[in-house]
Amino acid sequence: MKCSMIIVFSSTLLFLCAPLAYAQKGASPPAPTLTPSPAPAPTPPYVNLTDLLSVAGPFKTFLNYLESTKIIDTFQNQANNTDEGITIFVPKDDAFKNLKKPSLSNLTQDQLKQLILFHALPHYYSLSDFKNLSKVSPVSTFAGAGGYALNFTDTSGTVHLDSGWSKTKVSSSVHSTDPVAIYQVDRVLLPEAIFGTDIPPTPAPAPAPETAPAADSPSSAVTTGAGSAPGTSPQILLTGSMV
Ligand SMILES: *[C@@H]1O[C@H](CO)[C@@H](O)[C@H](O)[C@H]1NC(C)=O
Ligand SMILES: *[C@@H]1O[C@H](CO)[C@@H](O)[C@H](O)[C@H]1NC(C)=O
Ligand SMILES: *[C@@H]1O[C@H](CO)[C@@H](O)[C@H](O)[C@H]1NC(C)=O
Ligand SMILES: *[C@@H]1O[C@H](CO)[C@@H](O)[C@H](O)[C@H]1NC(C)=O
Ligand SMILES: *[C@@H]1O[C@H](CO)[C@@H](O)[C@H](O)[C@H]1NC(C)=O
Repeated sequence: MKCSMIIVFSSTLLFLCAPLAYAQKGASPPAPTLTPSPAPAPTPPYVNLTDLLSVAGPFKTFLNYLESTKIIDTFQNQANNTDEGITIFVPKDDAFKNLKKPSLSNLTQDQLKQLILFHALPHYYSLSDFKNLSKVSPVSTFAGAGGYALNFTDTSGTVHLDSGWSKTKVSSSVHSTDPVAIYQVDRVLLPEAIFGTDIPPTPAPAPAPETAPAADSPSSAVTTGAGSAPGTSPQILLTGSMV
């Protein structure tokens, strides 16, 4: 049955390639008679996750973990699967630097793998899909359910994530074209399945790290890719009044 799928797939590719070749050769003169077939669905371009993560960010630390654990192959394979796709939450290098309390340094290789898998959902979600996801939270991640699930809430277009240990938000959309979504998050996501449910209360002395970075233009970045522009401007007003 795999064979027949491959045949169907490759013949679809042939079909899709032909009009593309036309389009590239004769870009300016529109010849409607030459395109009798119903408009073919645009093929999503192949996304090389390594390439994407090396130029965006800086996401060097996350990328290094992806490569050292070989999870990059798992994620790339899922990204290649255009039926499901993938959604990855990527912490910036700073987020790893700021991670002091539960250290990642003494995790076993298996725990590290699970921690990296915990940063992805085995399906493509646009930012506007998170309204629905918040209704069905907790949501299983690539690492599993239960202690590896994440809670989502959508507050006026801003997507908040909660793992118990890590409360953070999507601070920008790096890439969001079906089947691959990559969203930058402010913190490393720590699963209860590894760090336990004995979660220390959030340290009060920290001078509100959540609200300060919110000003560095997250809203404009978040709007890209999401169809829900109207939600963003009230959100700015809300955060403004909270400060
Ligand atoms: C993806 O990009 C990386 C880095 O440029 C490269 O080493 C790798 O071969 C690429 N993978 C594929 C499947 O093209
Ligand atoms: C993903 O697809 C690309 C392009 O078709 C291919 O080169 C690469 O080997 C695939 N990677 C995985 C992990 O399936
Ligand atoms: C990791 O190290 C910290 C202190 O350095 C310790 O409290 C913790 O129990 C260790 N975790 C594991 C899984 O060994
Ligand atoms: C959200 O959920 C509603 C009802 O549960 C459904 O009709 C709608 O298609 C969903 N939207 C998305 C984007 O999944
Ligand atoms: C996630 O949501 C569920 C259901 O609302 C709740 O029982 C659970 O405590 C939440 N988990 C976290 C870490 O907030």
